[in-house]
Amino acid sequence: MGVTIVGAQLGDEGKGKFADIYSESADVIVRFQGGNNAGHTVVANGEEFKLHHIPSGVLRDGTGVIGNGCVVDPGVLLEELDGLRERGVDPDLRVAERAHVIMPYHRVIDGVEEDAKGDMAAGTTGRGIGPTYEDKVGRRGVRVLDLLKPDTLREKLEYVVPTKQALVEDVFGIDVEDNGYADAFDVDAVHEEYVEYGEHIADTVVDASAYINRRMDEGDDVLFEGAQGTSLDIDHGIYPYLTSSNTTVGGASTGTGVGATRLSETVGIMKAYLSRVGTGPLPTELEDDVGDHLVEVGEEYGTTTGRRRRVGWFDLPMVRHAARVNDFTGAVLTSIDVLEGLDPVRVCEAYELDGERLESMPADMDEWARCEPVYRDFDGWDDVDWDAVGTYDDIPPNARDYVEYLEEQVGAPFYAISVGPAREQTIIREDPFGQP
Ligand code: GDP
Ligand code: IMO
Ligand code: MG
Repeated sequence: MGVTIVGAQLGDEGKGKFADIYSESADVIVRFQGGNNAGHTVVANGEEFKLHHIPSGVLRDGTGVIGNGCVVDPGVLLEELDGLRERGVDPDLRVAERAHVIMPYHRVIDGVEEDAKGDMAAGTTGRGIGPTYEDKVGRRGVRVLDLLKPDTLREKLEYVVPTKQALVEDVFGIDVEDNGYADAFDVDAVHEEYVEYGEHIADTVVDASAYINRRMDEGDDVLFEGAQGTSLDIDHGIYPYLTSSNTTVGGASTGTGVGATRLSETVGIMKAYLSRVGTGPLPTELEDDVGDHLVEVGEEYGTTTGRRRRVGWFDLPMVRHAARVNDFTGAVLTSIDVLEGLDPVRVCEAYELDGERLESMPADMDEWARCEPVYRDFDGWDDVDWDAVGTYDDIPPNARDYVEYLEEQVGAPFYAISVGPAREQTIIREDPFGQP
């Protein structure tokens, strides 16, 4: 069967932790969108792993697949593989021949355009994600299979690279030589580097749709590991302060070539409060002592860029929107331990906008910026020995009240509740793969 996990908020909800946990039941673990903008943390046997391109589930022996909906920076991918091998993990990896490749000029354009955009900048990770997806849709992208065909690659680069240089120099007014970007626009150098990457990854390149469907036909279980979160989805998120791919469950089908009816379960991963890396409005944002508490206790610093994350209270209109867009069959609530010591613990149950109550988030970011959170307060909890929490009943009653209110409002059963970063700091109530 196929299980998809999707971020329900703004990324960093704890998807990596649950990709690792659920991969115990899965034979194949697939990334279907995004690239190394993702930073997924797994804490296993006291060791911390931070994965960017490679599906987090591979730490447990399953086959990892980077699907066609992803964008791949091959130099970063190879480094990540080396890093894992140095730590004794040698993942069985497949890369979709149809996935698009992040090129050096994409990284340059990502930075140059962010600088030029002013208030429209999303605060990207600078990894070249948006410009790579632009070229994909513009039908001028480099695909993984092109790296295995040096002549085709050269032909593409000879067309594309001068147009990119003209964009940077003539539109944005940035001289590539003076700014140290010349190598990114040197066709010969880029060609040589990327043909070499092709040689290194050639053995892993497959028709990923055929591969995953065959494994499913043979009875293998597949976990689809979403990156980013629903509010960062290019169609359903907080445009333009979002990423350039479909982070929602539909992306799991188009981003892998697996039919939607094969995706049996969709599990929304949600943090018990809100965190955000990047710019734009955030109605429940906390810029006070409570915010400092969430950042310090939750260690809210970006996994990919190290930036201090913005934080806020749990935003139900955002998560209701996510539950509808994805049709969650189940959910996971993470980091309730981080709320320990706060009193009250607040939930934004709705917004108020121009005297009206909104239950779901608006599409218009000017409106979202003007939304006033309507809060519901819960009594806090304190002095909990989280390491001693084994079952749901071990959680303090006040925390249970909070969890049960959220579960009812989200409208999907909480399959698990996470009380710390490590595998064992987890209360599992139901396994989406149906394991006892
Ligand atoms: P992802 O991008 O969704 O995989 O999430 P990240 O790995 O970027 O960020 C989540 C952070 O929270 C990581 O440092 C995790 O180790 C940590 N984490 C996950 N679940 C919990 C939890 O229940 N409690 C605490 N305190 N930390 C958690
Ligand atoms: P994971 O998978 C949190 C944010 C960036 C920026 C916007 C666009 O770890 O949850 P991009 O580089 O994708 O063009 O940036 O999206 N962003 C993330 N925020 N977690 C992520 O991934 C993110 N990936 C991108 O901060 O606002
Ligand atoms: Mg992350």
